[in-house]
Amino acid sequence: MNKKSSDIKAMFSQIAPRYDFLNSFLSLRQDHAWRQKTVRIVTRELNRDYQVLDVCTGTAELALTFRRKSNNRVIGTDFALPMLKIARDKLKQKVPSNDCYLSAADTCRLPFKDNSFAVCSIAFGLRNLVDLSGGLKEMFRVLIPGGRLAILEFSLPRPRRGKPLNNIFASLYLFYFTRILPRLGNMISRSRMAAYSYLPESVLSFPDKEKMVKLLSAHGARQIEVYPMSGGIVNLYVARKG
Ligand SMILES: C[S@@+](CC[C@H](N)C(=O)[O-])C[C@H]1O[C@@H](n2cnc3c(N)ncnc32)[C@H](O)[C@@H]1O
Repeated sequence: MNKKSSDIKAMFSQIAPRYDFLNSFLSLRQDHAWRQKTVRIVTRELNRDYQVLDVCTGTAELALTFRRKSNNRVIGTDFALPMLKIARDKLKQKVPSNDCYLSAADTCRLPFKDNSFAVCSIAFGLRNLVDLSGGLKEMFRVLIPGGRLAILEFSLPRPRRGKPLNNIFASLYLFYFTRILPRLGNMISRSRMAAYSYLPESVLSFPDKEKMVKLLSAHGARQIEVYPMSGGIVNLYVARKG
């Protein structure tokens, strides 16, 4: 399971051509709603002029959602060039002005000055970082004091005592997520590196809500809020730089 950074890069580079289609297909188009909600929550009460950095941007769907919400400058970074190529083509078609930029960069070594962005977001990227703590440190470094870090990440719905419907949903989802999704994903993406088997493995070994909150606090974050979505299969963490 412990993959090297070069393996992660190669894996995402391979699945890039079918990535957007599979995101929508395997999540039953829930991914659009997750991004919309993230942008709505993160940008509320922000002043008019702010800059957004979306790291591990992939095909830039979240960066584009931020850009659609306001005319502010948005930068997306990723280290998989085939992902960025798709993002670039999309931007050319969808963003008439130059206020959305893309750049190849490792999230654990961001090429930006300290205190540069009001928002730093990462969607379904944090669990792929080989150095999770190093990535968080970098994201906080480039945020202005009081700036918002937004982390959108998969999670597993938990069985709850006295909630039979909730428990049926949790069991069915676990079956889908660990048995069906990997087969469909690997087949459609033709991933030689079994990228869609790695997906549930990486989610199962990712810190749960309580551990994530502790980790964010240990990085000096304050006002940490958690927003579960779609019955708890995804969590949005929003934290302020202290
Ligand atoms: C699951 S995709 C998420 C893409 C996009 N944010 C989304 O919501 O669809 C994870 C992305 O993180 C990128 N990634 C993983 N580790 C990275 C790192 N250390 N530096 C930069 N990008 C990284 C991968 O190349 C991939 O594009």
